[in-house]
Amino acid sequence: MPVYKLKVNGQTLSVDADDNTPVLWVLRDHFDLVGTKFGCGIGQCGACTIHVDGVATRSCLLPVSAATDMEITTIEGLSKNASHPIQLAWKEVDVPQCGYCQAGQMMTAAAFIKNNTTPNTSEIRDAMSGNICRCAAYNRIEKAVELAAN
Ligand code: FES
Repeated sequence: MPVYKLKVNGQTLSVDADDNTPVLWVLRDHFDLVGTKFGCGIGQCGACTIHVDGVATRSCLLPVSAATDMEITTIEGLSKNASHPIQLAWKEVDVPQCGYCQAGQMMTAAAFIKNNTTPNTSEIRDAMSGNICRCAAYNRIEKAVELAAN
């Protein structure tokens, strides 16, 4: 199997993997970055969202062979001591119920507020609409995104 070098959270890491191995599994199984979650594996739920060159990306759909020259950020690398405005707002609003989808939610939200610092409710709903929450914490998610952006 080929060896791929990935830039993850500011570090260059190597992995021996098949070309089509999703970055999700490289992060979790090879780099022990288990904050990124597996939900559906087919790009439908958003649980596996990471940043690739600053853009919210579904890591279950990204083959390792396509990720070598990109800056990958996971929830573990979003900030030091969970101090990103999104993480602080998530705590303030007490968003999670079961918590499983929350890393993906926060990664989508963090990429969104970087480009829109004054989002209205409809823009927040639109931006977050691809991230499914089985506990239906959508109202608290919206509130936290709004708080973090302002
Ligand atoms: Fe990637 Fe659901 S696990 S979108």
